[in-house]
Parts: sequence; structure tokens; C-alpha cells
Amino acid sequence: MLYSGPAFSVTALGDGIVELKFDLAGESVNKLSQAALRDFDAATQAIAKDGSVKGVVVTSAKSVFIVGADITEFGTMFAAGEEAIARGVLEVNRILCRFEDLPVPTVIAINGVCLGGGLELALAGDYRVMSTAASVGFPEVKLGIFPGFGGSVRMPRIIGIDNAVEWICAGADKKPDAALKDGAVDAVVAPDQLRDAAISMVKQCVAGKLDWQGRRAAKLAPLKLNQIEQTMAFNSSLAFVGAQAGPNYPAPILAIKNMQEAATLGRDAALEVEAKYFARAAVTPQANALTGVFMADQGVKKAAGAWEKKSKKEIKQAAVLGAGIMGGGIAYQSAFKGTPIVMKDIRDDALALGMNEAGKLLAKQVEKGRMTPAKMSETLGRIRPTLNYGDFGSVDIIIEAVVENPKVKKAVFAEVEGLVRDDTIIASNTSTISISHLAEGLKRPQNFVGMHFFNPVNMMPLVEVIRGKQSSDEAVAATVKLASKMGKTPVVVNDCPGFFVNRVLFPYFAGFHMLLRDGADFVAVDKVMEKFGWPMGPAYLMDVVGMDTAVHAAEVMAQGFPDRMRHEWKNTTQVLVENQRFGQKNGKGYYVYAPDKKGKPKKSVDPVTYELIKGVVAARKEFKPEEIIATCMVPMVNEVARCLEEKIVASPYEADMSLLYGIGFPPFRGGACRYVDQMGAANFVAMADRLAPLGKLFEAPQLLRDMAASGKKFFG
Ligand SMILES: NC(=O)c1ccc[n+]([C@@H]2O[C@H](COP(=O)([O-])OP(=O)(O)OC[C@H]3O[C@@H](n4cnc5c(N)ncnc54)[C@H](O)[C@@H]3O)[C@@H](O)[C@H]2O)c1
Repeated sequence: MLYSGPAFSVTALGDGIVELKFDLAGESVNKLSQAALRDFDAATQAIAKDGSVKGVVVTSAKSVFIVGADITEFGTMFAAGEEAIARGVLEVNRILCRFEDLPVPTVIAINGVCLGGGLELALAGDYRVMSTAASVGFPEVKLGIFPGFGGSVRMPRIIGIDNAVEWICAGADKKPDAALKDGAVDAVVAPDQLRDAAISMVKQCVAGKLDWQGRRAAKLAPLKLNQIEQTMAFNSSLAFVGAQAGPNYPAPILAIKNMQEAATLGRDAALEVEAKYFARAAVTPQANALTGVFMADQGVKKAAGAWEKKSKKEIKQAAVLGAGIMGGGIAYQSAFKGTPIVMKDIRDDALALGMNEAGKLLAKQVEKGRMTPAKMSETLGRIRPTLNYGDFGSVDIIIEAVVENPKVKKAVFAEVEGLVRDDTIIASNTSTISISHLAEGLKRPQNFVGMHFFNPVNMMPLVEVIRGKQSSDEAVAATVKLASKMGKTPVVVNDCPGFFVNRVLFPYFAGFHMLLRDGADFVAVDKVMEKFGWPMGPAYLMDVVGMDTAVHAAEVMAQGFPDRMRHEWKNTTQVLVENQRFGQKNGKGYYVYAPDKKGKPKKSVDPVTYELIKGVVAARKEFKPEEIIATCMVPMVNEVARCLEEKIVASPYEADMSLLYGIGFPPFRGGACRYVDQMGAANFVAMADRLAPLGKLFEAPQLLRDMAASGKKFFG
């Protein structure tokens, strides 16, 4: 063996060919940590020193090729400031350039996932062969950065400007055929032929049948297009990508500007430009938030995994009670992901509607070519609609999704508990009612949990699994396992009215109602909050949620937290509901809705709304955007902190991910806790204190006051 290190080894294969193999010790995947990169450098230098080497193939001993850079190292790296970041990536680039400059041909055998830094390493080789089982791509923009280990320099030189812009700015994974078509790889072969194909290719280079020096020279030179062609290509990319990404996601634009500035330069000077722009992207709050989101997502999945391990139960058969908006969605999702489900309602028409909805969603999958018609009917066959409890003796879990009324729900539980096995789990999809309260009167409260899906079920990734006072570990764990199997991200929370997500959402709505009460225009509030990053402003969101549903839920929350969520004044949503304006569901809420060309509800402003609410709002007053943001966000963030204090949610990362996955909190802000971190707890508390006259919802809790005093952050 020519070289052996903790990540890389170099073995002679005969005829002067060596295999440089990546097998990161102690890890299930290969990633380019700083240590792995140093080892790669040592291996490269060992090859360079050995005069007998004629060609190199790079392989992976894991099922992936390289998943990317080690994102856990980004926090410290990015905190070091622009200059240090630029120096750091240039150091990595020197390592990759030493590999690229080896005096012998190099061929990369991409056997599996090859993303980000992994693909950048692959681009430093002369040729790339890819397995049909592999995927490649640059997902960096999803982290608020762009490829900074030479990827933005080499990619346009290999596949052209337009393709490189698309690969880098869209951040999508590419399948082998797409990678081959664009020229990012040179051959695609079956997995079992990959190694031989790579060896054969390097031998062809050695034999002079492939012009590896010519290929390499093209990567070292400036881009081939002339100045006018370049200007046209980059300017149209800037306009298109700028419009797609929007002002809150600067990384794709920085990537293009960098490529434009580096286009006329040779490799080494171009890498200097890349380092400068990369560092600029890495210090943005968006990069901080988005890398935080990546880490938090991993944390949430790990926590769910730990719960799943505690469950001995296999959920083979599920049932859902209620075939309405939620019940229908739950049945679809369960069937789609392979768990058969009985759907029970008391109304035939509701069952028909539920089946129809599921059918429509599946037909869309078929239309998009993601599912065959045969698979569609197989999936639909997994949903068994029924008006009676005939089959309930064999179900492992029942998900209750009947109307949001504790009396109705309790009556339903009493009814089903006698019909099911002793170990059948009963899970309620209630959005607000305390699980421990609903468990009162149950014979087996240990089998009872909350399983809170979000609307629309097929789209929203979050499921809150609520642990009531008496819920057993097994019931929680099995429910978590089912949520994961249904393709959702479960977060286990403790019980209280509204659980975590709705408990913090309703204070946000309260802030919105106060703004309107005090004279703000709901259209202006929506505009500001959408610019802040929410997918829809609070008035629009009210319409989508359903105003009657929201008023009802607000009442449950007010009963639970009367000190701050009860209000003596009538709010605009209550007035609109009194006037039969329920939101999108009946075409009238804050806005009015009419179907657009595609049949989707399109909103427009309705003067009648202003007429109806004028009795409960003050004379129109202009609010500054920062006042609007503070009045909506402070109550939400305060409530998040209270939930952390009361351990309703276990950690800041679970809190932030629940908000992202449950209600679309702007990802580039990372979540409520990250929002406080970025602003500084002291600034947040000062902002809350300024709004103190608005009431108790605006009183920053002790946790935030302590953080403000100590300078501590939620994350690091
Ligand atoms: N709609 C949402 O956005 C949303 C989101 C999360 C949670 N939830 C919760 O999910 C539950 C259901 O809400 P929804 O919006 O689907 O309501 P929905 O009114 O659309 O559906 C309720 C269904 O339950 C049926 N039903 C009533 N009594 C029944 C019984 N005894 N047995 C079987 N079926 C019965 C009704 O016929 C109806 O089809 C509620 O607890 C709600 O709070 C709703």
C-alpha cells in the first residue's frame, strides 16, 4: 500500500495504476471534513512522490461517494469572518489543485451520492464515470452559500455557463442521464461495472487514447466564450435567477456575479474571486439560518429515531375516524406510504368526498409520471371506507379526526375503546384541545396520544406527537414510528392547549388583531409580513385556515391561557364570522375569492370587509413595517420561549423546525429561536418592552430576560 490514512488509502492495481480510496473511519458516510481533506492531501502527495504511478482512479468504500463538506464544521468556520473564511477555502482549494495538477491522469468513479464538496473534488479529476445508482449535485444554495471548493470555477469550464448557473443556482440533485447530457460526467455504467470502467478509462489515458491533458488545460484556462457572449449569458442569468430567488436568498446571485468576475481569469485567479464571494455569502444571516436549519433538521430526525427505537409495535393496519379535510388527507397519506387504513365516517357523502380527494391527489401523481395507474389503484385499495366499526378489532392505531368538539370526541372515544384490542393506540388529531383532558374517562389512557397533522396533510411535513399526562412511552414511540413511515417529520411535544405550534401561532394572530383594532390596514399588514418572509400574511392565512375554525380554536386557547389570550374586545375575525365570512371555504373572508384559470382560488380585496369591520377598528393609521413586524412576532416568540421554559417542546431546534415544517416560518430566518439569536436577546427584549402597553402577550418571559442579561444564545 502506497499510503494509508484515517480517510484515504492508495493501493497499486498493477500497470502503474493506483486506486485512491475514500473510506472515512468511524463514519457510515464519506464527508469532506477538514481532517479528511488533510488526509486527501497527504495521499495526493504520496502519489506525486511516487514516480512509478501512471494513473489514478478515485473510489469510495461506502455506499455513497461523498455526501459533501462536513456541515457541522460550518458554524465555527463561518463565525471567523470574511477574511478567515476566504483564507480557509483557498487552503482547501490548494489541496484540490494539487490533486488536479498531478502529473498523471485521474478518473473519478462516482458510485453513489456525490454532492457539494464531493462533486467539487470529482471535478478536480480529469474524467468522471458515474454509476446508474448515483446522484450528483450542488445543494449549497439551500444552505445560503454556493460551491466554494472550486465548483463555481470548474463547473462553467466543464459544462458551460448556462448549465453551470442552473446546477449551482437551482441546487437540485441530478440523475445520471441528466449529468451525462450536460457533460458533468463522461460515462454512466451499471454499479457492478463502475470500478472496471474507471480503470479502463485511466488506462486509455495512459495509452494516449484519451486527451486528458487537453481536458485539464480547458479547466485551467479562462472561459471560452467571448466577452459579448459572456455578458449576455450572465446578465440574463442574473435577471432570471434574481426573480426566482427573491431578495431574501442572496447566495444564487452572489454565485453568478462571482462566475462573471472569474470568467476571464485562469484557474488560480478565478479561485481567489470565488473565495471572496463565497466568504461574502457565508457571513450572511441567511447562511447562518439555513445551515442552522440543516443541523436542526438532523437533530429532529435523530430525536424521532431515538423514539422509534423504543417501540416494539408494528403498525400494520390503521384507521381514521372522520373523512373530512383532515381525515381524508390522513387516509391518503397513510395509503400512499403503504399502511392500509380504514376510513370511518357517519355520513356516506363525507366518505365519498374523502375517497374523491384521495383519488384526485393520486391522479396528479400519475399525471406527473410519478406513479403508474396500476400503482394508483393499488394505493386506493389500501383505503377502506366504512360507515361502521366492523373491522376495528384488527386495527393497531386509530387516528381520530372528527369535529373539534371535546364532547363529540369523548363520545367517539368511549364508543371505540370497547371495540378495539387492549393494545390499540388511539390518537387524536385535535388542533387545540388538551390530550390529558380528552383522556379523562378513557379505560386505557396510557394508549392515548395526540397526533397533530397540518393542513394540507399531503404537503405539510410536520406531525406533532403529543404526550398526555398518562400516555405510555410505547404509545408515543409507535405513533412517532407511524408518522415517519407516513413520510412526515414527527416532533414529540408535551401537552397543553394548542400544544406547541398552535399555542405560539395564536399569539401571532392576536398581535395581528391588535394592529387592526388600532387602525392598521390588513392588506398592508399582509404585505409587510409576506416581505418578512411568511408564505402568506396573517389575514390571508386566516382565510386559508378558516375563520370559524380560527375563532373556535382561539376560544380554546383563551380558556387555557386566560391571563394573556383572553381579550374583552371583539376582533375583526369574530365580526367577519358573525357575517358568515369563513374564508376561502365559502369564498369570503378578509378577502374574496374567485377561481382563476386553473380553478385555484384567487384573492382580491373586497370593500365590504372594511365596511363590516369598521365598528371594531380605530381610524386608519399608518404603521411602520418594523412596528407591524414587532407586533406580530413578539407575542409568537415570547410564547415559544414560554413553551421552552415549560418543556412543552424539548429544544430550540425542535421548536424552530416545528415552526418551519408546520406553519411555513421563513426558512431563511431559521425559526423563532434563530430570529432571537440573530437580533440578540437584549434587542428582542427591548423591542418587547416597548410594546408592553399592548398586554401580557408582549411581556418577555424570564428565559429571554436571562439570555438578554448574560448574552447567551439559543444556538452556540
Ligand atoms: N382543518 C384543519 O386545518 C385542521 C388542521 C389540524 C387539525 N384539525 C383537526 O382535525 C379534526 C377534523 O377537522 P376537519 O377540518 O377535517 O373537519 P371536517 O369538518 O372537515 O371533518 C370532520 C368529519 O368528521 C365526521 N364525523 C363527525 N362525527 C363523527 C363520528 N362520530 N364518527 C366518524 N366521523 C364523524 C364528519 O362527518 C366529517 O366528515 C378536528 O379536530 C380539527 O381541529 C384540523
